[in-house]
Order: sequence, then C-alpha cells, then structure tokens
Amino acid sequence: MVSFNRVFTGGTVWTANGPIETDLGVRKGRVAAFGHLRDSAADVVDVKGLTILPGVIDSQVHFREPGLEHKEDLESGTRGAVLGGVTSVFEMPNTDPPTTTEEAINDKIGRALNRSWTDFAFFAGASPENVADLKSLEQLPGVSGVKMFMGSSTGSLLVSDDKDVLRVLKSGNRRVAVHCEDEGRLRERISMVSDGAPVAMHAEWRDAETALRATTRLLRFAREAKRRVHTLHISTADEMVLLRDNRDIATVEVLPQHLTLSAPEAYERLGTLAQQNPPIRTASHRDALWQAVRDGVVDCIGSDHAPHTLEEKQKPYPQSPSGLTGVQTLVPIMLDHVNAGRLTLQRLVDLTSAGPSRIYGVAGKGRISAGYDADLTIVDLKARRTISNDWIASKSGWTAYDGQTVTGWPVFTVIRGQIVMRDDEVVGNPIGSPVRFSETL
Ligand code: DOR
Repeated sequence: MVSFNRVFTGGTVWTANGPIETDLGVRKGRVAAFGHLRDSAADVVDVKGLTILPGVIDSQVHFREPGLEHKEDLESGTRGAVLGGVTSVFEMPNTDPPTTTEEAINDKIGRALNRSWTDFAFFAGASPENVADLKSLEQLPGVSGVKMFMGSSTGSLLVSDDKDVLRVLKSGNRRVAVHCEDEGRLRERISMVSDGAPVAMHAEWRDAETALRATTRLLRFAREAKRRVHTLHISTADEMVLLRDNRDIATVEVLPQHLTLSAPEAYERLGTLAQQNPPIRTASHRDALWQAVRDGVVDCIGSDHAPHTLEEKQKPYPQSPSGLTGVQTLVPIMLDHVNAGRLTLQRLVDLTSAGPSRIYGVAGKGRISAGYDADLTIVDLKARRTISNDWIASKSGWTAYDGQTVTGWPVFTVIRGQIVMRDDEVVGNPIGSPVRFSETL
C-alpha cells in the first residue's frame, strides 16, 4: 500500500528526539512518519550515509530586486540558496524603491512567485516617514517582521534619532530586526576614511564603540516600548556582554563571516572583498562571538548575503560598497566549523532552523516533526570540497571563501517534500511560496 508521496531512506534524521537512523515519510509536503517506510512510498530516495537536517532558514539576505538587479535578483539569489542547502529566506528592504509600503511588499511577493527556488518572506523597512503604517505592514502575508537601520549602510533606509527609534518600536508587535551602528558616531568620524585610506580603516571608523552605542540605545528604547528586538550581525565582545543581560527582550544573530574571518588578515588577503557593515574585526572579537555561541547567547545565524559586482567591489576604498555574498556558503562553512569542533551539530541546527523559527514565529517550519513542512537540508558531513567562484550562482559571481577547502557539504535541498537541489544541480522548477507566521495566520 502506498501511503507516502516520498520516503527518504537510509539516512540519519535530525528529529526532535535527536539523531535517529530511520526512514522519513512525506505526505502532501509535510513530515508524516518515521520508521521502516520504504515499502509504502510512490518514490523512495536513498540517502544512505547522509544526514537529514531541518531545512535551513537564512533570516537575513539582500536579493536586490527591484532596482539593483545587476547585483542579484530573486531568482539568482534563491538559486544560490538552494545550491547551498537553504530552504527559506527572509529578504531585506534596502532595495530601490525600499520596501516601506504595502505596494512594495506585494510587488516583491508577486516577483517571487514562480521565480523563487526557496520559500520566502520579506521585511517591511522602517523609516521616519512610514511609522504610522508599520502596524498594518507587519500583518501582511509574507512579511517576516520590521527592519530598522540605525546606521547608514547600502541604500537610503535610516532611523537614527532617539525619538524615531522609539516611535518605530512603539508601532506594532512583531519582531523588529535592527542594524546597530550609531549614525552620529559614524558621521563624526568619517574623515578617518577619506580617499586613499586603506580598507582596514573600515573597522577603525566603524569601531566597536559605534556598534556598542547603538545596541545600548536600542535596548533602552526596546524596554521603554516593551518591544522585542532582534539584534542583527552582532560583531563585538562588548555587545555580547550587554546582550547576555537582556535575553528577555533581545535575540541575537551572528554571521558566518564574523565567526570565520578576522582583521587584519582578512583585509590583507581579500582587500575590499572583506568590507562589510558591521566590519570584520580582530580575533579577540571573533573569539568572543564563539564564546557567545557556546554559552547560548546567540539565537541564530544568518548570512547577510549582500552581493555587489566585482567591478563595484574593486573601486578604491571608501568608494567600494560594503557587503559579502554568503547565502550559498553558510551551510558548508558552518559544517566545517562543526567538523573542526567549534560547535556541535545540535547547536548548529538550533541556530539555523529552530532559532529563526522561534524569533520570528514561523508556522510549521524549523524542525523535523510530524505535521511540519518537509523542508530538509540533507548533508554529507564527511565530504571534503573546495569552495570556488565557479560554484557561486549569485550574479556577483564571487565568494570570500574562493579556494577554501571545507569538510561538510549539502547534497539535497528539499522544500515541502520536493527535491529542488541534488548533487550541486537545481532540480525542477522554482516552487517557493510565502513563509507563514503564527501571529498572522
Ligand atoms: O555590509 C553590508 N551590506 N551591511 C549592510 O547592512 C547592508 C548590506 C548591503 O545591503 O549591501
């Protein structure tokens, strides 16, 4: 009797009870059962020797559409995502026009349907002008939450004044994801990076104090507004000290690049390819981020995939734009850290699936449990592979990890039971749908 649409057999499945060698049965796109199921499926997929992880949710990507499609678009960005084992993405609002209106959000959703390889959601961008609309924007289907830039980065979105930060936090209930760099301090010190300055000065100009000041202000206003915030790409030891005392109100993201690269080595080797906001910092900050991962202070890992063309990146600093690609390399780089003993696989799964699901209130994704979407990142923990620019699907065509050999590689990407990547090739059609959230079901 055929009771499942598909059964994955022979793998180690990362269930809510831990890793178990079992078949995994999928019915109508959802996880249906565990056990010996291989005789009762229309389609049996042999994944012997592989590990089936909950689908990776990358909750911070910049896919540039509309307006900046020469860098990336929703099709190329999500193709890179599935090639890298990512099953859902939450996309940032610093496009052109920025995603600050209902029209702009619906436009992005329309563009993603039939073109997105992953499931997707979009952030509503906060600006001093749209504060009154944020409450309704955050309730729209396909919206992951609100994004606020406290310091200027790529694009025009900025909420820098105390009164505006507080107004944004008082408008709505869902999670506000925040880029914490203090705009006042950035402006005061911008002369440090005039023409001819070496790119390593990026981390001096946008220093640890710049990040700490913004995060300190944010936490004060979050408490006053009684609003939960999610602090994006935390990059300093100093902020981690503060954040561990504010776990009731703030969640924490770190990036693979802040855990992997460090100054001055990254700037010497990669030049402006290592330039991003907040910057790559010294090894002592990187080590503090690892400590925070191990202590449980960090809730999730996002890639902050922020593509710019090589031509743009090769402009002399500071005209070179900030941002690294990363959606396709998140899984291999982090599996390599698992293999090197820097974190456990259990911790990684929490950071890349359950973590984003908890933070944003995702409905039906984030773990492999009966009734949940059958979103699976199926990996070979022992495969040794070399990351190269040729493999990168991003229109920008480069990665800071070009030439780096890693242990651990995604072999299948499965979205709602459908295989969309197998052995480094995309399969079928872009079937991405909007991610659903418990607070707006
Ligand atoms: O380096 C960065 N690049 N940091 C950001 O916050 C934005 C991003 C981008 O969109 O290029």
